Amino acid sequence: MILIIDFGSQYNQLIARRVREHHVYCQIEPPDIGFDRIEALRPEGIILSGGPASIYEKGSPRVDRRIFDLNIPVLGICYGLQFMMDALGGEVIRSERREYGFAELRIRTPEGIFSGVRRDTRCWMSHGDMIGRLPKGFRVTASTPSTNVAAAEHPVRRFYGLQFHPEVVHTPEGKRMLGNFLFRICGCRKTWTMKSFARDAVQEIREKVGDGKVILGLSGGVDSSVAAVLLHQAIGRQLHCVFVDNGVLREGEARKVRDVFRKHFHINLRYARAGKLFLDRLKGVGEPERKRKIIGRTFIEVFEKEARRIQGVRFLAQGTLYPDIIESRSAFGGPSAVIKSHHNVGGLPKKMHLSLVEPLRHLFKDEVRLLGRELGMSDELVWRQPFPGPGLAIRIIGEVTAKRLGILRKADVILMDEIRAANLYRRLWQSFAVLLPVKSVGIMGDQRTYENILAIRAVTSDDAMTADWARIPHDLLGRIANRIINEVRGVNRVVYDISSKPPSTIEWE
Ligand code: XMP
Repeated sequence: MILIIDFGSQYNQLIARRVREHHVYCQIEPPDIGFDRIEALRPEGIILSGGPASIYEKGSPRVDRRIFDLNIPVLGICYGLQFMMDALGGEVIRSERREYGFAELRIRTPEGIFSGVRRDTRCWMSHGDMIGRLPKGFRVTASTPSTNVAAAEHPVRRFYGLQFHPEVVHTPEGKRMLGNFLFRICGCRKTWTMKSFARDAVQEIREKVGDGKVILGLSGGVDSSVAAVLLHQAIGRQLHCVFVDNGVLREGEARKVRDVFRKHFHINLRYARAGKLFLDRLKGVGEPERKRKIIGRTFIEVFEKEARRIQGVRFLAQGTLYPDIIESRSAFGGPSAVIKSHHNVGGLPKKMHLSLVEPLRHLFKDEVRLLGRELGMSDELVWRQPFPGPGLAIRIIGEVTAKRLGILRKADVILMDEIRAANLYRRLWQSFAVLLPVKSVGIMGDQRTYENILAIRAVTSDDAMTADWARIPHDLLGRIANRIINEVRGVNRVVYDISSKPPSTIEWE
């Protein structure tokens, strides 16, 4: 395994993903990780990440210097390089201006980390400080026009440093450089696959759970579905899933989940039909945050009630992913944690005193999808677009009524139908319809109409933190609008949302 020390860079998760794309397991840990724990992890190499701090600032993050005595390779990236230089007796200086963006990289020694890399290539820079003097035994291995020490190494001790970011796509040879570090320098082997992960995870779940019962809230989304199938493989009938039908799901969704999990996977599934309860409580409510809170609270209530019906449950399983874990303990807090808090609809039923089982806590989304395939789940299941916990309630602007739900569901079916037919479903992060509380005048046949406006939202994104509106072909948009206006009673106008995130969000509420 490779240990990545998190100095707070926005690119940290990317470093981990790149390492894992090379089929090497890695773990991100905060700088204050104890030295004992580092030794216990027995990493084959350490990567020191970038970060926003300046090494000579008071309180800048530092990791135990004894990592340099472990006789294992260390790669410092950006701040990580500066930390390494400072720790080993070099000097870091403030550059006159911040360097940000592409730079031409001139490689002096095409070996080690640069083995097989073209001598002239580009790299992505983002730094304020730079290296003034190298520690003893180090040499410069690459430069850019404005940064003399763009890369340095101590080949005997196997210490390497890059001032630029090899993990971002803007450094075209970055993947090769990281590969060189992993395989040529650290001697890692490609053992990280979803097959090996599944085998180990099953073992670990069995050890933790013993003969206890586990409960899992199944939403039908990718994460909870993969968690369910994995747990089922490990403990079979000891797993009890609860699916809460909150009345604001898409057309046919509840039936699909029941069919797949009960009939296909033979998983214990309790189905809580609570649509009426949710809709009653949402009556007359138009304010988005109140809608979210009502749905969140009601969900917990229904879930707990169902859970109590299962005798002797000791564990609560959740499909938490690695990014949530990293973000929730990030040294710098990061805005991400805050943005997401309102998304975790259910939260934890704390009163129930259950121990947590989070079998996906080390995985990224793309890995969860691969794992799902490994476990025999269909493409259709593992490639589902995300769907928010509060469901269609936050896609009906204003009050949620049965009638408006009906309109939105029908439009949504047509939209998804066309998106799939155009082979765009997987390429879009999300595509959905939003029903507006605004009417407009139209004409149908010879009749004047005065009906609802429906907005189409489709975005591309890697992680939902940022998103761009999708450039859907005009013909397709035309076809979608035509069909919706013709086939859905109550809509006489369709508009397309061309806002990106930020400053807009993906969902409208
Ligand atoms: P926003 O609208 O904040 O959404 O740009 C980012 C991503 O999160 C999804 N989302 C939610 N997911 N519960 C969820 O499980 C929620 O309350 C929730 N709100 C938004 C949204 O669909 C997008 O993928």
